[in-house]
Amino acid sequence: MQIRFADQVPDGIALAIPASGIDADPVRRLGGNLADALSKQRFDGESGSVVEQFHDGRRVLVVGIGKKGAAGDGPEKLGGNAVAKLLTSGEKSVAIDLTGLGFDADAAATVGLGAALRSWRYDRYRTRLKDKQKATLDEVVIVGGGEGAEQRYKSRWEPVFHGVSLTRELVTEPANIIYPETFVERVRSALDGTGVEIEVLDRAAMEKLGMGALLGVAQGSVREARLLVLKWNGGTPGSQPVAFVGKGVTFDTGGISIKPAAGMEAMKWDMGGAGAVVGAFRALALRKAKANIVGICGLVENMPGGNAQRPGDVVTTMSGQTVEVINTDAEGRLVLGDAITYVTRNYKPSAIIDLATLTGAILISLGHEFAGLFANNDELADALKTAGDESGDKLWRMPLAEPFDRLIDSPIADMKNVGPREGGSITAAQFIQRFVEDGTRWAHIDMAGKAWSDKPSATYEKGATGFGVRLLDQYVEDTFER
Ligand code: BES
Ligand code: MN
Ligand code: ZN
Repeated sequence: MQIRFADQVPDGIALAIPASGIDADPVRRLGGNLADALSKQRFDGESGSVVEQFHDGRRVLVVGIGKKGAAGDGPEKLGGNAVAKLLTSGEKSVAIDLTGLGFDADAAATVGLGAALRSWRYDRYRTRLKDKQKATLDEVVIVGGGEGAEQRYKSRWEPVFHGVSLTRELVTEPANIIYPETFVERVRSALDGTGVEIEVLDRAAMEKLGMGALLGVAQGSVREARLLVLKWNGGTPGSQPVAFVGKGVTFDTGGISIKPAAGMEAMKWDMGGAGAVVGAFRALALRKAKANIVGICGLVENMPGGNAQRPGDVVTTMSGQTVEVINTDAEGRLVLGDAITYVTRNYKPSAIIDLATLTGAILISLGHEFAGLFANNDELADALKTAGDESGDKLWRMPLAEPFDRLIDSPIADMKNVGPREGGSITAAQFIQRFVEDGTRWAHIDMAGKAWSDKPSATYEKGATGFGVRLLDQYVEDTFER
């Protein structure tokens, strides 16, 4: 779908007008019996409410923008809600008329972002779609935004849309299509020409480095593990990079500690953290972010099999620390531990931010509204929390503390990979922290409740959300580009 910007509403296409209530200006401007139609349909301007009417031969949508208007996430919701209503409506083109509503260039540009995000779908495997199920909308024309809206969209938000799209695609693809090797291939082609440097470690390379925890998870699968390393050097040459580390379990059966059958298909998106990292790289490279960033994706498939690791196995990590694998389903932390040691040794990052669909327990704590944020540094935590509020990828800070760390001590090794059921997200974070060297600023984002959604929102359909891309993109802007 195309996003265009224009000074005037083109003739003959559908029209969407934002309104905060029945007697909003744009409704009055259009005249006719529109106000009447709105009141009969009990339109009150609430964000998300949409009324449809045919007026002078064209479809007119009145889209509620609530009291927020052009502030906050009002604009992206407006774009998204208009597109949600029209995507399969038969309309090919819609103009969103912002005239006189005080949308500056950025607000108008984010209407475009919301529209683009909400138009994303993945129909590759739906070969028998009925015509009326197919998307028809292929253009959104944004009219009456501030000077420079188009430039702002192209330089700031279109890259973010491309990043989120990549993440959603990887998360949506089933695990017979996307596994460690094909994840790497898909990322290579998506980042081709962006200037992102790519390095890939195979099993032999990781064996040499002693990544026994990551490889222990992978050993039950016929799909070989990969460590994907991405580099973007848009900042001051030679300055320390920030590191993004993603959990990329392309399918999580639980391994020998196998998961119940019901709902196991969801574990195709257990690579959502790695998906967010590569999506963020695409966004940041496309918009030529002024920052040095290194991205690490630990890519494995967690399968039971003749060669799978067993509960009770002791593995030696790249850090030299040993781990008793009590539960093979607590695999994400094993992958992240080695990935964090790798990035620390090779890049001396100024901060490490890891993203992972790590624990079911975070859903018990925070539901689907927030991802959990753990950090060993308040400034970093605050910066991420702010970026989350600004971008809509919301975070809620969770605690770390020594008594939780004691819960993962092992009688046979340096640590075990699970603690008790209580505080399961916290002990998982404590485990990861054992791989963070003293003095390195680190944050961990447990996004198990956020990578996938069973209900649509203003900016996504049911399914992959693309969570994490906008968060990292906004964090980079706030931290390195202001
Ligand atoms: N990938 C899962 C966590 C998960 C659960 C993500 C539900 C999304 C939705 C993770 O690898 C896992 O299996 N965690 C276990 C840990 C337990 C064995 C300590 C869990 O949360 O049950
Ligand atoms: Mn698991
Ligand atoms: Zn997992």
